[in-house]
Amino acid sequence: MEGWAAEAHLFSISPPIHQSNTPLPPMSWQRKHLLDIESLSVEEIITVLDTARAFKAVGQRAIKKVPALRGKTVVNLFIEPSTRTRTSFELSEQRLSADVVNFNTEASSLKKGETLKDTARNLEALNIDIIVIRHSASGAPHFLARVLHASVINAGDGAHEHPTQALLDMFTIREKKGRIEGLNVTILGDILYSRVARSDIWALTKLGAKVTLCGPSTLVPRVFEQMGCRVTYDVEEAIRDADIINLLRIQHERQRKSMFPSLNEYSSLFGLNKARLALTKPDALIMHPGPINRGVEIDSQIADCGRSVILEQVTNGLAVRMAALFLVNGGKGPHEVAP
Ligand code: CP
Repeated sequence: MEGWAAEAHLFSISPPIHQSNTPLPPMSWQRKHLLDIESLSVEEIITVLDTARAFKAVGQRAIKKVPALRGKTVVNLFIEPSTRTRTSFELSEQRLSADVVNFNTEASSLKKGETLKDTARNLEALNIDIIVIRHSASGAPHFLARVLHASVINAGDGAHEHPTQALLDMFTIREKKGRIEGLNVTILGDILYSRVARSDIWALTKLGAKVTLCGPSTLVPRVFEQMGCRVTYDVEEAIRDADIINLLRIQHERQRKSMFPSLNEYSSLFGLNKARLALTKPDALIMHPGPINRGVEIDSQIADCGRSVILEQVTNGLAVRMAALFLVNGGKGPHEVAP
């Protein structure tokens, strides 16, 4: 394990920089990397969302491909499993006309003991322009951004952050509700081990939503209140006034010990079932980053019901990832996306 894989960072929590802002005029994007939501300003988040909206319109045209990344090479370095993020990055890169390399971890020299740094620097020696990385260690994308010349996009690092997931969640909420500021958003489940929760909390609090966290006390420590959230262990109370209910699965792969007695007990105490759904506002939306565990955090029928926007989140991921790739490659904002 390399020194940068600082486990302590996993649980470090600092208060949000911006809170409760009215939408600001979009700014010109200046960043070379997209590593987290924590360091983004409200203006930068809105620039990504507006650029994604322009790309979503492009995706509805007969010819969905644009030349924005023609001649550029993107490597998808997924050293942890993924279905949604990996596939939508690959499709986004193709839609932007990039040359795409999907790194095959199992068939790579990582298996022979090569370090992440050496692997990435060897890929860079092949003249790549952008690396999209998913890694089980928090901080891996930040590390690569320090040692490479290429742009780096974080596709999920340990329990730290998953910025493009949060951006597609914000995009979906804004599209469905017309705003984010002032909405009650409840995130229910395994918050402690969730990179999606951290990125969503940063984004939601910066954009002015009121965030409630709920789940077993072992998975929702009160320290999250320092991020500007409300913490409750009463699930009925947590969902009653929510405009958005964002469910998270139990992240067994990151838990080093059992955090609750059984999945059955978790499901009965915190799962979103028919009886609990009946307590919620009729227009409350059900979100989930996936993969869903049917019958654990969500009843199967609720996952597929009319109030679930789970698959729309996946669809919006394409436009958001096109925007992220476009911006880190030097794009300035939505005005540069051809209508
Ligand atoms: N939401 C998400 O990151 O899903 P994948 O692990 O399938 O990419």
